[in-house]
Amino acid sequence: MPTETARLPLIAKRSKPLTGSVRPPGDKSISHRAIMLGTLAVGETAIEGMLEGEDILATATAMRAFGATVTRTGPGAWRVAGMGVGGLLEPETVIDYGNAGTGVRLAMGIAGSHAFATTFTGDASLVRRPMGRILEPLRRMGVQVLARSGDTLPATIRGPDALVPIEYRLPVASAQVKSAILLAALNSPGVTSVIEPTATRDHTERMLTAFGAAIDIETAEDGARVIRVQGGQPLKPQKIVVPSDPSSAAFTIVAALIVEGSDVTVENVLLNPTRAGLLDTLVEMGGDIAIVNRRSVGGEDVGDIRVRASKLKGVKVPPERAPSMIDEYPILAVAAAFAEGDTLMEGIGEMRVKESDRIAAMVAGFRANGIATEETPESLLVHGGAAVAGGGTVETRLDHRIAMSFLVLGLASDKPVTIDDARPIATSYPEFRNLMTGIGANFAEPDPE
Ligand code: S3P
Repeated sequence: MPTETARLPLIAKRSKPLTGSVRPPGDKSISHRAIMLGTLAVGETAIEGMLEGEDILATATAMRAFGATVTRTGPGAWRVAGMGVGGLLEPETVIDYGNAGTGVRLAMGIAGSHAFATTFTGDASLVRRPMGRILEPLRRMGVQVLARSGDTLPATIRGPDALVPIEYRLPVASAQVKSAILLAALNSPGVTSVIEPTATRDHTERMLTAFGAAIDIETAEDGARVIRVQGGQPLKPQKIVVPSDPSSAAFTIVAALIVEGSDVTVENVLLNPTRAGLLDTLVEMGGDIAIVNRRSVGGEDVGDIRVRASKLKGVKVPPERAPSMIDEYPILAVAAAFAEGDTLMEGIGEMRVKESDRIAAMVAGFRANGIATEETPESLLVHGGAAVAGGGTVETRLDHRIAMSFLVLGLASDKPVTIDDARPIATSYPEFRNLMTGIGANFAEPDPE
């Protein structure tokens, strides 16, 4: 886990055309869920293409602490021998989830449905992030919580003997909150409903269905999505194939758009519509993006994405698109810096409670590299059209996506861009540097002083 003492600065330099193909690692959201649902099924779940980033390894460790056997059998190939819904054991130690917000929030849903105490903590980023959004519905379900002020980690939770089924309307558009409630509800004696006014990523619903749980999804009169799950259903072990993460693919896609002369294919990318906001936006900006070889892998649409360098124009990204691209705004902002005209991203307040305050991190990094931006609590405006100077050093703030976004910026800016610490990249995309170097990205360590 990154500490203050041993940062790994990295420089990105203007690169020749990027060419060739990249197969990003497995989807982070699906990988977390595959291990967790494998833990809640009785028998052996096999996972292929799994992301082996630190966030997912934290989930593997956490599920082992609850008694599951989680084994790596080859690159990206894992086996989970599960304990069954309601069958987990009380962990003997504190569960340290490192940097992984999704991991800890979903695991709190699972732990909260067991009548024993579990204590969760995390790194300097995770202990600052809001957990009340998970703890509040869990309290309604009867879970006892002892958390640090403001409902932050470390927190200890203890489930009741029988969890109370609830009907819960999400106050924030969050797949993590939806998923935590659904996972807890599996071990409650009744029907739990989650109402989401705006649809968020639906991997939990899809995977629960694949594991044999009957869940009911309908659209309410006001357009909200209502998901109902009956507790007490057993899950059956599965074979899961994890497609490449579109949120990781995003960095290569934008790099290929902004580095002159590039022509790159990003392979095997998950094309789930609840994750498609960035591609839609880049196409609106004039990006030359073609999806080829569309196919179905493990119940999800997957395709290869061919991207050629393009002249981009600024756009207004509507607030309702935010849930389908919430992790992609930093790299979209980088594309916007190279576009002609302004790009306005609205309704993105959730960016402020990610691994870092990503609006603040982007604004600071852009200022250091001569790019004009404006922010409000809920929006970010990038003034494109001017030459992108570069030459600055960016604080990555324990945030993998800030680190990768600014490295991509440096591949096309006039002067190199330095990030103060590349280590957070390992949470979601350990292969980033190698794969990008393989298509021609020019990265270098700074000279020792
Ligand atoms: C995720 C949901 C999103 C996203 C995160 C992964 C998930 O968070 O930012 O990287 O797998 O459910 P929110 O649910 O907080 O929007």
